[in-house]
Parts: sequence; structure tokens; C-alpha cells
Amino acid sequence: MIDAFSLHNKKILVTGASSGIGKIIAEKLSEKGATLTITGRNELRLRTTLENLNGESHQSLIADLTNSTELQSLAEKTDRLDGVVFCAGIVQYMPVKHLNLSSFDEIFDVNFKSQIALYQQLHSKKKISQHASLVFISSISAVSAVPATLAYATSKDAINSAVRILASELSKLGVRVNSISPGLIETPLLENTFLNKEVFEKNAVKYPLGPGKCEDVANAVIFLLSDASRWITGTDLIVDGGYMLRQ
Ligand SMILES: NC(=O)c1ccc[n+]([C@@H]2O[C@H](COP(=O)([O-])OP(=O)(O)OC[C@H]3O[C@@H](n4cnc5c(N)ncnc54)[C@H](OP(=O)(O)O)[C@@H]3O)[C@@H](O)[C@H]2O)c1
Repeated sequence: MIDAFSLHNKKILVTGASSGIGKIIAEKLSEKGATLTITGRNELRLRTTLENLNGESHQSLIADLTNSTELQSLAEKTDRLDGVVFCAGIVQYMPVKHLNLSSFDEIFDVNFKSQIALYQQLHSKKKISQHASLVFISSISAVSAVPATLAYATSKDAINSAVRILASELSKLGVRVNSISPGLIETPLLENTFLNKEVFEKNAVKYPLGPGKCEDVANAVIFLLSDASRWITGTDLIVDGGYMLRQ
């Protein structure tokens, strides 16, 4: 019997694979039979992810996605792809009155512009197969209006718009484009923010289904990359344990 959720024989690129959600996504995709190219900036952490992958023939490529030369080289060295998970991202919490416009640029460069630039590079080098699936990791921040998240939230809202536009442009090629919006998940992303253990535990009660894990996002990614979602494009899948129900 054919398993519509299988990723066997699919070649997938995962950005942000050296840490947090992207690392677990890479590990889970390899368990489902995908052959991966994983990327990030930190060589040591990326190597650890590579060592954790199931199966063989995976490759890791170091690249800062905001550096156009490194981005080009990443696209060149990548195989022709059946899927891409755009997971790299950064966060900063700051009330609007204190928001420094250069940090605003930095967040947009990583969370939005570099994602689009990566897609463009892959497209121009003909690395995106017909019927490929592109999955962007967005955030419920884009729609939940939490104070002090303007730069981060708008960068993710921009991703949500880009997903719909790309889905519309690429549907004629059979390429699907979707995003996943996770709720708060404990990862290194939040280490240098006010979100310490205590705040996290207080926040957990806002999630009707309890705190989420990287694996919850990874399972949604598997679905959107697999043939099981072949009729789904241009959507944002909220993975938040019911948080938005109470907003
Ligand atoms: N954690 C949450 O609560 C949460 C909730 C909703 C959405 N998200 C989204 O999920 C994604 C992953 O977040 P996470 O929590 O897993 O964060 P994380 O543990 O800090 O991982 C971030 C990843 O992005 C990579 N990255 C950052 N800047 C980069 C750049 N300029 N070039 C290349 N790679 C870069 C990092 O690479 P290096 O390690 O090599 O620097 C790392 O692999 C992000 O897009 C985030 O916005 C997270």
C-alpha cells in the first residue's frame, strides 16, 4: 500500500537546521525517508544535526542566508529539490517607542528578505522540481498582537503574504507553497529575551493543550511536504495547542 505521508526518495532542503525547531524537523524528515541538505551558520551544531540524521547521502552546507555570495553557493551546491523548509529566523522583543530601525532591518533581512532571496536563487538555478512543496515557518505572532513584537510579527506577516503570492504564481508549475505558524516553543531562539523559565511556565497555561514541542511543528511539516497534502496550497497551518482560540 502507498503511504501518502512518506518522504521516501524526496530531496529536501532545511534552513535553520543547526538549532531548535529546524534541527528536529531535519531529524524527523530523515526518519520519514527524505534525503536532506541541511544548512545553518554554526558548523559544530550543524554537524551534530547531520550526525543525528537517519540514513545516508545527506549533506550539510554552511551559509549565512543574509550573505548573497553564500546564498548563491548554497543554491549551487544543493540537489534538485522536492521540498524546502524555510526555518531560519531570529527574534527581538522591543516596544515600538524603543525600536531601533537598524535592528528592524536585521530581523527583516533574516526572517523575510533572505527567505525570498533563497527561493529566487533556487528557482534561477532550476533547483525546484515540478510538484515540489515549499514550507515557510511563520509564527502566531503575525496574528496575535503581543506587545513588543512589532519587528518580528511584521516580518512573519510578510512571510504569510509572500506564501499566498508565491502559491498563486507557482500553482501553474504544480509547486505548492504553505506556511506553519507555531505558538511559543522553548528553543535557543528565546535565550536572550525576557522569556525565562518562569515566564514560560506562566505562559504555558494560555495553551489549552499544554506546552508545544519542536516535534509538533515537525509533524505538520511532514504533512505539508508529503503527497498527503497534494491539494493544499497558499495556506497557513496554525500549530499552537489552541492558543489562538483564547485571543
Ligand atoms: N521557538 C518558538 O517559540 C517559535 C515560535 C514560532 C515560530 N518560530 C520560528 O521557528 C523558526 C526556528 O526558530 P527556533 O526557535 O528553532 O530558533 P533557534 O533555535 O534560534 O534556531 C534558529 C535557526 O536559524 C538559523 N539562522 C539565524 N540567522 C541566520 C542567518 N542569518 N543565516 C542562516 N541561518 C540563520 C540559526 O543558525 P545558527 O544556529 O547556525 O546561527 C538556527 O539554525 C524561526 O523562523 C522562528 O521565528 C519559533
